[in-house]
Amino acid sequence: MAVSSAPGKVYLFGEHAVVYGEPAVPCAIERRATVEVSARSDGRLRVDAGDLTLDGFTVEYGGDGAPDVDVPQSLVQAATGYVDGAVAQARDAADSPDVGFDVAIESAIPLGAGLGSSAAVAVAGIDAATRELGIELSTEELAKRAYRVEREVQSGEASRADTFCSAMGGAVRVEGDDCRRLDAPNLPFVIGYDGGAGDTGELVAGVRALREEYDFAADTVEAIGDLVRRGERALDEGDIAELGRLMDVNHGLLSALGVSSRSLDAMVWAAREAGARGAKLTGAGGGGCIVALDESEASRTALGYTPGCVESFRAELDFQGVRREDG
Ligand code: PMV
Repeated sequence: MAVSSAPGKVYLFGEHAVVYGEPAVPCAIERRATVEVSARSDGRLRVDAGDLTLDGFTVEYGGDGAPDVDVPQSLVQAATGYVDGAVAQARDAADSPDVGFDVAIESAIPLGAGLGSSAAVAVAGIDAATRELGIELSTEELAKRAYRVEREVQSGEASRADTFCSAMGGAVRVEGDDCRRLDAPNLPFVIGYDGGAGDTGELVAGVRALREEYDFAADTVEAIGDLVRRGERALDEGDIAELGRLMDVNHGLLSALGVSSRSLDAMVWAAREAGARGAKLTGAGGGGCIVALDESEASRTALGYTPGCVESFRAELDFQGVRREDG
C-alpha cells in the first residue's frame, strides 16, 4: 500500500489572464487530498471516493464498460475521471498496463470551487500509484503527468498552474509552459466558500468573447499581467500590504471581465471591512471561493456572519507539495 497527499491552491494573482499567456501566481494551501493505493492482480479498479462528493459512494469497475452504480453519471465521472487518468499515468510510467488498484480518496478541498481539488487528487494519485508499483517519479515528472490528466479530463482547457503548484508546493509562477517556484514569505490566507462552483469552461469562454468584442477587455487582461509582475516584486520583498492592495485591484479587474458574483463580492467586502490586507475571488469565479490576506481572526469571524458564505477557514501557504504519507 502507498499513501500520498498533495495540497490545493489559491490564485494570489492572474487567473483568466494566464489563459492568454500572461503570468499567474498560484499558491499551495494547507488543505490536502490524500490518496491511498493498493495494487490488485485482477486488473480491476475499486475507487472509494467517500469524501469527494456530497453523497459519497464506492464504485468498482474493470477495463470495459461504465461503472454500475446508482448515482448520477456526472457525479461518477467527476470523481473517477481524475482517478482513471492518474491510474493510466501510473500504468504507463511503470509499463504495467494490466495492473488493477484499490484507491481510497480523502479530500479536505471543496470540489470545483477554485481550490484545485482535481489537481491535488491527480498529483497524489499518480505519486501513490507509481510508488506502489516500485517507481519513483521526480516532482517535475509528476506535475507533467498530472497536467496531462487534467487536460484530458477537461477537454484541452487546462493551464499548468494547478498541477504544477500542487506538486511543488509554495508560491509558483506560471507563464505558458514556463513554470517555476518563487520565494515567498508565509502568507496568512483566509478562505471564504459560498458552497457553489462556477463552470470553468463557460467562464473562460465568456472572457474570451468579451476580449474579442471589446478593446477594454483585452486591455484588462494585459493590465492583470502588469499587476502580476508588480505582485511578484512585492512577494519577493515580503511586502504583505502591497500584496493585499494588488489583490483588491485584481478582484476589480476580474469583476470587469464579468466573472465575479454577488456572493463572491459579498465575501470579498466582508473580509476587507474586517481589516484584511486584501481580498479577491480565486480561480474561475462565478461562485466558489475568495481568498483574503489577514494575520488576525477578524476576516474569518466576519465571513462567518456573511450571508452566502457557508464555510470559512484559515489555510496558510503550504511550502510542501506532494508528500509521502506512508512512513
Ligand atoms: O477554478 P480553477 O481552479 O479551475 O481555475 C481556473 C483558472 C483559469 O485561469 C480561469 C483557467 C485556467 O485553466 O487557467
